[in-house]
Amino acid sequence: MQKWVEMSSVLSSSGTSTQSILGEKIRSKTARVGVVGLGYVGLPLAVEYAEAGFHVTGIDLSESKTARVNAGDSYVGDVPSAVMAPLVKSGKLRATTDFSQIRDLDTINICVPTPLRKTKDPDMSYIVAACQEIEKYFHPGLLIILESTTYPGTTDELVLPMLEKSGLKVGHDFFLCFSPERVDPGNAKFQTKNIPKVVGGVTPACTELGKLFYSQALEKVVPVTSTRVAEMVKLLENTFRMINIGLVNEIAIMCDGMGIDVWEVIEAAATKPFGFMPFYPGPGLGGHCIPIDPYYLSWKTKQSGIEARFIELAGQINGQMPHFVVEKVQNALNDHSKPVKGSKIHIYGVSYKRDIDDVRESPALDIIHLLGKRGAKVSYSDPYVPEIRLEDNTLLAQDGGAVEAADCVVIVTDHAAFDYKDLVKRAKLIVDTRNALKGVQSDKIVRL
Ligand SMILES: NC(=O)c1ccc[n+]([C@@H]2O[C@H](COP(=O)([O-])OP(=O)(O)OC[C@H]3O[C@@H](n4cnc5c(N)ncnc54)[C@H](O)[C@@H]3O)[C@@H](O)[C@H]2O)c1
Repeated sequence: MQKWVEMSSVLSSSGTSTQSILGEKIRSKTARVGVVGLGYVGLPLAVEYAEAGFHVTGIDLSESKTARVNAGDSYVGDVPSAVMAPLVKSGKLRATTDFSQIRDLDTINICVPTPLRKTKDPDMSYIVAACQEIEKYFHPGLLIILESTTYPGTTDELVLPMLEKSGLKVGHDFFLCFSPERVDPGNAKFQTKNIPKVVGGVTPACTELGKLFYSQALEKVVPVTSTRVAEMVKLLENTFRMINIGLVNEIAIMCDGMGIDVWEVIEAAATKPFGFMPFYPGPGLGGHCIPIDPYYLSWKTKQSGIEARFIELAGQINGQMPHFVVEKVQNALNDHSKPVKGSKIHIYGVSYKRDIDDVRESPALDIIHLLGKRGAKVSYSDPYVPEIRLEDNTLLAQDGGAVEAADCVVIVTDHAAFDYKDLVKRAKLIVDTRNALKGVQSDKIVRL
């Protein structure tokens, strides 16, 4: 470590600062870019930088993921293998499980998971583990950018002290930023490249380099004055979404009680050209962001004695939705003189949203669990998800035959690839939680 400190002061005394050397490397695209965590966020980012002309090294704990990257075989829906494979072949992109490669890197984006513990407290273990590896191979001239969604203060309070153990000085010898990842898997219009990138550094020099780094590969960069502002931006965005979905889910429950079609209400309200933004009800929240991130905020504010009441309430309402769907299924079956117990129920779509393969936190898993507890025989189909692991067993996706065999089909995820006309022809009874059968009139259909 002493050697690095000396090296850094040599750079400074020669009149060329670490910042300007790194800045020049970034501008000339000779900076060696590293991405730690090659999942839904990290892999698209790594590919974007390789496409922009940088040499990119992806580092992940998973040998199967790194092997697939090196074989040019993408496992992330938004990254076509046809785009990734030539980058691997040309040597612009490679992946490894070997953290010692950090020695040769100039920049590192950290894109590891930030789940919740069972107690709904932030689980920082992935960020800490990644930083511990970075610490081992830390050297002057590195730009580190944390992208994992987290509570305000993480970069300053958790990451910075770990990196400063090296004796190197932030904003002088190395640079540290937070930049929230806003990727929306499955969104064909907005992807890593054209989603504006917010970045805030620990010091103005850090922000400057973070801005320079992102502007080499992404269309628009939005610098903010601190890492805390950047961390809070992401939590505002996701909390806004979670609460509005909670509101519209409650409105859906109200409309159901009053016999009003909530979908028609939203469609008409959305014609207002100002002051209204439509959100849609559904079977519950899913994914690695919306059901989780707001709890990072409520956990943090609780430490200052501030209660995040909207978050708690929206969490309760959204968490109730799988139960509401199961009640709907039960009532629909009862109307056809069938009990749930012993009925065959087929779940149509299990990923947490349309046209992607991600089942993390998917409400489909809760619905399957609740129906199973009531004695139903549950099957599912999903073109993106060949199998799902439940607590006590594994279900395999079924083909079209399961629709005919089912007493009730529940549309949980409205994948575009499903043939809804055919479904209406073949199913005996359908509970549609997504308005996938909009405009279709049939006694078989029960809507949320
Ligand atoms: N998925 C999304 O839509 C999305 C959108 C915006 C922000 N985010 C945030 O981005 C972060 C990453 O999410 P994701 O969906 O890409 O997760 P992911 O699970 O798809 O990918 C994370 C990757 O990190 C790897 N990993 C775990 N620990 C590691 C370590 N110590 N060192 C190296 N690699 C490690 C895992 O093997 C995995 O490949 C999270 O904080 C999430 O909240 C996700």
